[in-house]
Amino acid sequence: EHPYPTEIREYLYKILVIGDLGTGKTSIIKRYVHNIFSTNYKSTIGVDFALKVIQWSPDTVIRMQLWDIAGQEKFSGLTRVYYKEAVAALVVYDITRPNTFEAVPKWKADLDTKVCLPDGQPIPVVLLANKMDLQDETSVGLNGEDMERFCEDNGFLKWFGTSAKDNSNIDDAARFLLEEIMHRE
Ligand code: GTP
Ligand code: MG
Repeated sequence: EHPYPTEIREYLYKILVIGDLGTGKTSIIKRYVHNIFSTNYKSTIGVDFALKVIQWSPDTVIRMQLWDIAGQEKFSGLTRVYYKEAVAALVVYDITRPNTFEAVPKWKADLDTKVCLPDGQPIPVVLLANKMDLQDETSVGLNGEDMERFCEDNGFLKWFGTSAKDNSNIDDAARFLLEEIMHRE
């Protein structure tokens, strides 16, 4: 029917992955991009990068450039440099360690003071409650209502309980974030 092939639209998005030490940022990215998981902990130094290419629709390709920022950068002055021109972020905490949840608003505030969209709006941010495979009665912040209020109060669009180990909910969280980015185009 069409005499010429449809034009392919390509988008490149810089997306930050931040949160405290050892919460599983690198593991989530490795699972999402390469579908692998390791129990070995090798703390990220500075920042690492990963690229995930997604055929979003027949005529749309998305390149997600994931910036895997070391948890130990929390109080370093470098985050401003890393955050530059990001269009979205994932903030990760570890449901087995309350202090990583307490740090979430600090990471969010760090983001909001250092990066925004070209129109001045805050970038879309999603909260990941990671290590859901270890969930028990001591886990932090999993009550749905409380978490929704927490997200509203702290400017998160939504939260997802994830496990890099079991590969649960990571694709859904990423898809949700991409939809939010596309809506803002
Ligand atoms: P930094 O780079 O130091 O900021 O840490 P990080 O957030 O990148 O954490 P990383 O992905 O390196 O994971 C830390 C440890 O948690 C590793 O031993 C992982 O195997 C483990 N881990 C990560 N995600 C999960 C998960 O979903 N479930 C379980 N059980 N362990 C996980
Ligand atoms: Mg890491």
